[in-house]
Amino acid sequence: MHEQTSTPAADGTPPQGPTLFDWEFATDPYPAYAWLREHSPVHRTKLPSGVEAWLVTRYADARQALADQRLSKNPAHHAEPAHAKGKTGIPGERKAELMTHLLNIDPPDHTRLRRLVSKAFTPRRVAEFTPRVQEITDQLIDRIVEKAGDAERGEADLIHEFAFPLPIYAICEMLGVPREDQDDFRDWAGMMIRHGGGPRGGVARSVKQIRTYLGELIHRKRDDLGNDLISDLIRASDHGDHLTEAEATAMAFILLFAGFETTVNLIGNGLHALFVNPDQRARLQDSLAAGERSLLETGVEELLRYDGPVELATWRFATEPLTLGGQEIAVGDPVLVVLAAADRDPARFADPDTLDLSRSDNQHLGYGHGIHYCLGAPLARLEGQTALASLLTRLPDLELAVPPTDLRWRGGLIMRGLRTLPVRFTP
Ligand code: HEM
Repeated sequence: MHEQTSTPAADGTPPQGPTLFDWEFATDPYPAYAWLREHSPVHRTKLPSGVEAWLVTRYADARQALADQRLSKNPAHHAEPAHAKGKTGIPGERKAELMTHLLNIDPPDHTRLRRLVSKAFTPRRVAEFTPRVQEITDQLIDRIVEKAGDAERGEADLIHEFAFPLPIYAICEMLGVPREDQDDFRDWAGMMIRHGGGPRGGVARSVKQIRTYLGELIHRKRDDLGNDLISDLIRASDHGDHLTEAEATAMAFILLFAGFETTVNLIGNGLHALFVNPDQRARLQDSLAAGERSLLETGVEELLRYDGPVELATWRFATEPLTLGGQEIAVGDPVLVVLAAADRDPARFADPDTLDLSRSDNQHLGYGHGIHYCLGAPLARLEGQTALASLLTRLPDLELAVPPTDLRWRGGLIMRGLRTLPVRFTP
């Protein structure tokens, strides 16, 4: 299997099997995606877990699939025989008690739960976070600069020292995790991300710690409601909106899960794209120095399109037979919508492989589409914009400390991002 190259061979051999999803593929999946879009846009493949699934890589098909109600998010609709379940790598199949969250359910439960939590993500609510996100960002940069001391050139790993802690502290604030507990939270979340993949060993332990902690926090907050999301969830359930404690815990967990590694990778992938596209980076720095924000705003959207954190918009399962991109999808078949491939589709985007921070016609699928469209998008935008603007303004000569080809990527079925991002700068 490993003799196969991760990119299509000259004779047009389809890239498939494990090599589609190993770390080599993760380094640059785009040639393989281009091949798939052109030759096999709805492509049946065997995933590393052995499960067979359809990969959807064209923009038009992807958008259609994301909005198609016949494609369920509930893993119970997966046709795979029961004995194979639990080994599929499908999120939710093993962690039954955390299953009842937005990304694993369909209407009407989805509609009810999403309505409850969507109040927390209105532009006004998110705008209230602006000063705190800026403060967290500034503190992280302060720490990086202080560590450099009197050295002529400072060094840092921007994944571990910056991209990783920023969203975790932001989500803690949003949920209402007290400051004194936030470092524990950061460490458990770190275990989740470092080990990646299935819920074994350290990952299982950290998931359990987070779940137990969230359960206790919900209990504590019942007697001490505040201006945070967990308090909102409790209030909503007390007003007859029917939210079980298991649902509340699962909700808090999915906010952490959906909002954490995604944002780490938005910042990491985004910085990487700027480092390897120095002209675009210079444009952004000039515009920031002139006190403008519009290039920053379109730029963060473009970074999401160009090299977004989410490869595949998680799973969907056919509840009825359907035709997608000319392929017959059978009931129970898993469908993976490859957002990163759709967002480079030349049929939708002009010069899709070019990073253009001022791209205006940019309806990318980085946040998904349809009823599961990313709830946290306003928060992610705030974090992404604050992170990039602050770093490039305070450390304007920031540069990669290793050649780009030495960087290692963490691939997976859902997320793609850098393991480390070593940089140098003048403190
Ligand atoms: C859903 C991407 C940040 C919370 C989604 C989906 C995508 C996505 C693609 C749709 C998945 C699907 O249809 O299967 C991203 C990206 C982010 C980001 C690229 C960062 C750059 C966040 C943040 C939060 C969050 C910061 C919250 C703190 C959610 C939730 C859902 C979701 C709760 C499920 C919505 C539903 O099923 O109704 N996100 N996300 N995300 N995201 Fe995000």
